[in-house]
Amino acid sequence: MTQAGTMPAAAAAAATDRPTQPALVEMQDISKAFGAVRALTHVNLTIAPAEVLGLVGDNAAGKSTLMKILAGAIQPDSGRILVRGRPVSFSGPIAARDAGIEMIYQDFALVPELTVTQNIFLGRELTGPALGVLRRKAMAERARKLFAELGLRVPSVSASVRELSGGQQQAVAIARATGFDAKLVIMDEPTANLGAPAIAKVRETIARLKAQGVAVIVISHRLEDIFSVGDRFVVMKHGRVVGTRAVSDTDNDEIVQMIVSGSDPRGDRTAAE
Ligand SMILES: Nc1ncnc2c1ncn2[C@@H]1O[C@H](COP(=O)(O)OP(=O)(O)OP(=O)(O)O)[C@@H](O)[C@H]1O
Ligand SMILES: [Mg+2]
Repeated sequence: MTQAGTMPAAAAAAATDRPTQPALVEMQDISKAFGAVRALTHVNLTIAPAEVLGLVGDNAAGKSTLMKILAGAIQPDSGRILVRGRPVSFSGPIAARDAGIEMIYQDFALVPELTVTQNIFLGRELTGPALGVLRRKAMAERARKLFAELGLRVPSVSASVRELSGGQQQAVAIARATGFDAKLVIMDEPTANLGAPAIAKVRETIARLKAQGVAVIVISHRLEDIFSVGDRFVVMKHGRVVGTRAVSDTDNDEIVQMIVSGSDPRGDRTAAE
């Protein structure tokens, strides 16, 4: 007999090199090509519950493609995704949403002709006991409450999205992604094209989501977004992960160097994280 049976749980976990808490999401060995373009090559990415991860890299690095795969919008050629340690296969965005993963796209993907409330409930409308009858008042109420909870403002939930400013449209996209028990919210360039007050609002929202236990992956060219509210950077280039850094253990110059050179100045041991 060995002493394994009497080993404390923490020591046993350490001995087998298993994390004590499963990652919220693990993407393993993900590859994706569009015709001759290899958008992603053997990419690994892990995110913990309530972690804010900054996904950064030059244009065409593969950031949006990787996140669209995680959000079920496109399918990988190979690799696998685990949510809380269980393999999942997302046939589409609704399957990802059911697993608690929501994505805010670069262009918000709102329908300009519809109202704020209609956009928020698009595809998940509340219906009454009579089949097909929409609970419009309940949805408008819920939408108002959502904005209040998030500390975000729109002129009216019955305004059409077309009438809103960029920052207000962003608020609608955030409300839609965060109002339904998401465990992970992905934001693709959430601060691009916004003025300073709207940028501050987005960063506040990210911090609030984290405080509520929600994990956030932020794709951004503004490294300050990540330095201000993020926990960790993952740098990509040419469809590969270059390396990862805790925000507390790096600076702007090092991240820029990794983005530009496509290599990890501290060696490649962290590249697969
Ligand atoms: N639907 C598609 N069809 C063909 N090629 C695509 C498609 N989507 C992405 N690509 C290509 O895949 C590569 C990665 O693109 P992706 O949009 O993921 O990069 P990115 O890191 O998000 O860049 P950016 O910072 O410019 O948004 C690029 O070469 C891009 O042209
Ligand atoms: Mg992109």
